[in-house]
Amino acid sequence: MAEVVQCSVHEGVAVVSINHPPVNALAWQVRDSLLTALQCAEADPEVRAILIAGAGKTFPAGADIAEFDTPRKEPWLPQICTQIEMCRKPVVAELHGTVLGGGFELALACHFRIGLRSTRVGLPEVKLGLIPGAGGTQRTPRLVGAKVALDMILSGRILPLDQPPYRIFADRLVAEPEDLRAAALEFCHEAVAKGPRPSCERREGFADPTETQLELTKRAADEADRPENARREAVAAVEAAFLLPFDAGCAFEEAAFADLVASDQSKAMRHAFFAERRAAKVALSVDQHPSQIKTLAILGAGTLASQLAVAALNAGLAVRWGIADPDRRIAAWTDVEDSFEDAVSAGDLTKQVAKDVLKRLICGTMADMVRSADFVIRAAEGLQRSDMAEDVVCATAVAENVDQIGLRFARPAHLSRLVEVIEGPRARPDQLGSAIALVKRLGKQPVHVRSSGETIGGRMMAALHGAADALVDLGASPYDIDDALTKWGLELPPFLQRDATGLRIVGRVERHEGGMNWSAVLAQAGRTGRASGQGFYTYLGDAATPVHDDKVLMLFDKHRADRNGVKKADIVPLILGAMVNEGARLVDEHVAASASDIDVVMMAGHQFPRWRGGPMKAAELHGLFRVIRAMQGANHPDKALWVPHPRLAALMRNGKGIEALSN
Ligand code: 3HC
Repeated sequence: MAEVVQCSVHEGVAVVSINHPPVNALAWQVRDSLLTALQCAEADPEVRAILIAGAGKTFPAGADIAEFDTPRKEPWLPQICTQIEMCRKPVVAELHGTVLGGGFELALACHFRIGLRSTRVGLPEVKLGLIPGAGGTQRTPRLVGAKVALDMILSGRILPLDQPPYRIFADRLVAEPEDLRAAALEFCHEAVAKGPRPSCERREGFADPTETQLELTKRAADEADRPENARREAVAAVEAAFLLPFDAGCAFEEAAFADLVASDQSKAMRHAFFAERRAAKVALSVDQHPSQIKTLAILGAGTLASQLAVAALNAGLAVRWGIADPDRRIAAWTDVEDSFEDAVSAGDLTKQVAKDVLKRLICGTMADMVRSADFVIRAAEGLQRSDMAEDVVCATAVAENVDQIGLRFARPAHLSRLVEVIEGPRARPDQLGSAIALVKRLGKQPVHVRSSGETIGGRMMAALHGAADALVDLGASPYDIDDALTKWGLELPPFLQRDATGLRIVGRVERHEGGMNWSAVLAQAGRTGRASGQGFYTYLGDAATPVHDDKVLMLFDKHRADRNGVKKADIVPLILGAMVNEGARLVDEHVAASASDIDVVMMAGHQFPRWRGGPMKAAELHGLFRVIRAMQGANHPDKALWVPHPRLAALMRNGKGIEALSN
């Protein structure tokens, strides 16, 4: 096996190359070897400058995220960054690929940076519930100011190094990959004359102290009420960079980073990171590459079809849009055209780009449109597989029985990330492979489901609503339930959500054993939801402000005997319990492959916040034992809700985490 760090000397320049595929993550083995290589190079009298590079597709893309779940092992990345910065010989970073997190911090600790024009940089730690922990909160604002540093840290976005204001991070840029090494070696020789330039001594980013303090005060106020701890810590750490000496600022960052790594929020977000990647990797006997799909036929004229057309055009596909009624074709085309015109008005696209994109859209009869397609999506009910070639995959995107392949897009389909890829009972592996490849080609998150039409999201949301109704059966107030879930992190809690949908529609969903259909009760009393100004809530001022209404509670009390049967503190554990129970059933029935797939569905498509990690991880972090104890205390005739599923009970008995719930 190749060394993870290789070092060779070229005319007085030690080239230290990190070789740890796929993304050169700075795992312990890399850090250990890197430190040794740096110490050797500094001690070697032949070496006058040091060049740090990444082998393969990228300079390091960050610390090794998997390592955060194991005890910290020296040397830590901040130690290596200090070693680099204090080196008596100039150290240059050679950048290409995605220079992220700890990789970007390593680059900032170097005295100089040369990079490829195509390099992208970023500090995505906030997406893992962390702040940059290797000097990133201290060195970045020193170079580029508090505003840009906080934009980078709080957005976590991956940004172009060749564009302002990020251009400032590179001392020189090179266009062609094959020229990079020669240019970097030449730059190293120039750096020998300049000598080391430690970033910790720079303060040009703080040139205007009044502006910096105003920015920091504004950011602190912006973040004060947000639930994610890492965001507040990021602002505080950048403020420390501004106010404190470098070492004290680093100590502040280190303490905050250590607390965040140990926090439930970061554990949840790290779970999300790996769960999303696992979900996208369906084990297939036929592995189809997304680039093989070039032309997509969409059948149907409704909103879903038009959203799919926009998504496919945005992903660079040619779209053949089959609409039976010729009059609807013009309206549908105009709909999509409007959507791109809006993007032009918003400055997201130029007129020319929008024009070019629309050239890839053709509308016609269904038979004509499917003829040249690599993949067909049926986006309206009632359309049958028409005269298309046998090897073309035809997936249904509407809620109906699935025989072969179903694609359930979270709505709106052009903006949402989630697609549940349903493998029906008669699906072939090549069809499933194509469907997963299409979803990846659309830049969306696939999750594999085995069913005849059921979705993970549908079943889990039904469990959530079922549990919310059952809590009302047991005497809880719908307002307490919504409040508890809102505080917990749901943007739209169940009863507000139902009011928005309309209680006549929601009331048609039957309740299981022993439960009242509270939506139907309200609809019968004339409270049909937000549109009518009254539902679970009463709406004031253009139906915009929901307020609690005692009349609703009095109406409910007429229909239920037990009025104080739920402690407020048990609301969240009981809702999570019902969802985890349903999750265990989904895995047991092989509808979902794993608990982590269920979490991906709920985070990507059903408003579960990433900092909670989805309902399955959230239950684990809350303590499975505590959740199950709350379930055992709930006495409701609908046993499916809170009698722990055997697989769940087994997890608790064996002290296993939710990851163990998989097939
Ligand atoms: N640590 C561990 N594994 C990582 C990793 C990391 N930082 N980054 C990527 N990987 C793994 C992925 O899990 C995946 O593994 P798999 O093949 O076994 O599933 C593999 O590398 C390839 O990743 P992707 O599928 O995501 O590949 P892409 O080419 O689509 O994307 C990327 C590449 C843009 C680098 C993307 O992987 C990414 O965004 N990675 C995370 C970057 C990040 O968050 N860095 C900060 C880490 S925290 C940190 O640095 C703390 C520091 O401040 C101290």
